[in-house]
Amino acid sequence: MQDDDKRLAATTAAAEIQPGMLVGLGTGSTAAFLIDHLARRIRDGLSVTAVATSDATERAARAAGIIVLPFDDIDRIDLAIDGVDEIDGSCRAIKGAGGAMLREKIVAASAGRMIAICDGSKSVASLGAVPVPVEVLPLARTFVADLLCRIGATPTLRQASGVGAYRTDQDNLVIDCKFPDLPDPAAIAAQLSAIPGILGHGLFLEEIDTAYIAHDGLVRRVDR
Ligand code: 5RP
Repeated sequence: MQDDDKRLAATTAAAEIQPGMLVGLGTGSTAAFLIDHLARRIRDGLSVTAVATSDATERAARAAGIIVLPFDDIDRIDLAIDGVDEIDGSCRAIKGAGGAMLREKIVAASAGRMIAICDGSKSVASLGAVPVPVEVLPLARTFVADLLCRIGATPTLRQASGVGAYRTDQDNLVIDCKFPDLPDPAAIAAQLSAIPGILGHGLFLEEIDTAYIAHDGLVRRVDR
């Protein structure tokens, strides 16, 4: 049921992909439905190219037959479509359970438009039930964790099952920051951005233009 809703949100968003677009492909299980659907449309003749927000997405998209361009040479894309871990009624979101928030943020910032896709379980009245992940330069991990405590977070170094600390595609660490509550996400975002050693965080407060949220087979559109 949840997967049906993820697929529905993804295919609804995919209807906004026009011929010739350069599309940013998100990361995670909802984005995987987007990749499947887009690959089918490409097989049916749609001409689009893509950039990927993670190595896993790049592999999946290429395997499905989507042309994925390296982001290194690209300054602007047409449309980014990506999942979220939480989203509120103003299209403000927390992302990064999959550890890809740094590249996801860069791709989102380069996009003329960003669409979030999710099932109804991700829709919240206010952000903060899930931790805010931050990508951290490994040598700064203790310094950063101390500063995170000082701004009110309970920091946890993310682990990968059985192999120690989780590493991002950029070979950095992730610290998950649980805040007791998040009444002013913009203030926390500014504080996180100001900590040297934090390379990016999972608060997406300005990037998302539209969200498609599917619940029990019905899609709700939310615009910022
Ligand atoms: C990865 C992300 C994902 O988009 C987010 O975790 C949602 O994933 P899923 O669609 O599997 O619930 O931010 O860094």
